Amino acid sequence: MNKAKNQVQDRLKVVDIVLEIVDARLPYSSRNPVLEQIINQKKHIIILNKADLADPKLTSDWILSYQQEGTAAIEVDAKHDTKLTKLNNLIRSELSDKIAKYERNGVKNFQIRAMCIGIPNVGKSTILNKMVGKKVAVTGNKPGVTKNQNWLKTDYGIDLLDTPGILWPKISDPKVGMKLALSGAIKDKIYPPDDVAIYALDFLQANYLDRVMSVYNLQRSDVYNHTTAQLLMRLTEKLGYKEDYDRAARRVIMDVRNLKFGRVTFDVPGEFYEE
Ligand code: G4P
Repeated sequence: MNKAKNQVQDRLKVVDIVLEIVDARLPYSSRNPVLEQIINQKKHIIILNKADLADPKLTSDWILSYQQEGTAAIEVDAKHDTKLTKLNNLIRSELSDKIAKYERNGVKNFQIRAMCIGIPNVGKSTILNKMVGKKVAVTGNKPGVTKNQNWLKTDYGIDLLDTPGILWPKISDPKVGMKLALSGAIKDKIYPPDDVAIYALDFLQANYLDRVMSVYNLQRSDVYNHTTAQLLMRLTEKLGYKEDYDRAARRVIMDVRNLKFGRVTFDVPGEFYEE
């Protein structure tokens, strides 16, 4: 992590802007707190990618909350948006003063240099591919795989510096760990699936109870006056998995990822500022 942190710090000097890609389902938990301290020195845009998977209302709330803190933020669905025009425009508008200054000094086609950072699986490769207009980085759902730093050219006067998708070494808040595991940013074998599923069911019961009941065809008696661990046992039975709780847990995790509960955001603005 130190090596990666130093690399980012070094490269900050040669870029105009940082594009920090986060998972829109985890607009806070998928930010790398180690890099956050460094990139705050630079103009940056928080890109809430995978917005197609996240709760639209909470995505808007998060964007507003980041903007109120003075950081530009934008929602993106890199999987389905072919050109990412809004993102390109936002990058230009964030740097409009600098571009104007260069133009006053006779530089007509100021080439913007942007550094892309993001933990594994937030869709960094997908965004880079779309911005460059061709497949330039291997896209895959393999959290933990890092790539070398790499400059890429776009047709929009923006040069992009790719950086390795890195997680920070110690996740101190277990809730953040569960959320990252649920989103697929952390390898499935790191956290026990029942812990992750129980976290998910807890959150979903508190925020989207009707969806949980309808997805699993549950009765009120299944959910009221029961712990979430008991609910997972009940689900195991209902799904016909005998006593294979892990199988039921993995099913819950996949159901979250496959939008069985609809578009869900696991970070709520405000919850991180209370402690
Ligand atoms: P990374 O470089 O940050 O590690 O992420 P990468 O681009 O490899 O994307 C990880 C997974 O997330 C990929 O799915 C990719 O298609 C998906 N993804 C990226 N952006 C979006 C988005 O805006 N919306 C949605 N729904 N998915 C997105 P995969 O399962 O690994 O591959 P595949 O589904 O493309 O075959």
